[in-house]
Amino acid sequence: MSKPERWVIGNWKMNGSLASNAALLEAVRAQPAPAVKVAVCAPFPYLHQLQQALSGSDVQSGAQDVCEQGAGAYTGQVSAAMLREFGTSVVLVGHSERRQFNAESSELVAAKAAAALAAGLTPIICVGETLAQRQAGLAEATVAAQLAPCASLFAAASANVVVAYEPVWAIGTGITATPVEAQAMHAFIRAQLILISPSAASVSVLYGGSVKASNAKELFSQPDIDGGLIGGASLVAADFLSIVSAAA
Ligand code: PGA
Repeated sequence: MSKPERWVIGNWKMNGSLASNAALLEAVRAQPAPAVKVAVCAPFPYLHQLQQALSGSDVQSGAQDVCEQGAGAYTGQVSAAMLREFGTSVVLVGHSERRQFNAESSELVAAKAAAALAAGLTPIICVGETLAQRQAGLAEATVAAQLAPCASLFAAASANVVVAYEPVWAIGTGITATPVEAQAMHAFIRAQLILISPSAASVSVLYGGSVKASNAKELFSQPDIDGGLIGGASLVAADFLSIVSAAA
């Protein structure tokens, strides 16, 4: 059974411009830790820029969403095959901002992950509870319910799927889950995955939510945290590269 791989993935969200991306990508290309898989997930219009700027580097190009359908009358959507044509190899699915602002259900998220896998992309399946859910003692139940529709994917293709645990209360708030809190949920997620399929023991489980250069090392040293999904800090090259180094 292979061990989970180390990953650090930047999520630019709806940020960037051709000029600022060029400088960021130029710096990020020099990723300092070959043992860590590194990707940046950019808004769709910049995927061509990523393809050019990252060509020949170890940094992978990623998108932030994908349509669950293959092609057709789905105005405004982007298919997994289109992402592939632009050199994209990973895609976020079910980020909490899409669950919240675009009313994405866990079933839809699973369908998006399946479409990504079918096209040869690695889906990064994002899960996480809100503060109200945590305070009500529902954090684990929430995350288990978010993972459940993806069960068949974990069973069939665990090598090509990544899970990102992002407690909603920690995203962009400056409040990070403590290493102990994060580790506890990661151990729970790992146990859920293994229940679904023993082969899913090799699925990487990343932590996201206010990861910074200053707290990355302690988070990533937890036994069940295999790296991070980085929002704000991925927009600053020095911070992002220092987080990559912390995952090595
Ligand atoms: P943050 O975002 O690092 O800015 O908290 C993480 C994410 O939403 O992926």
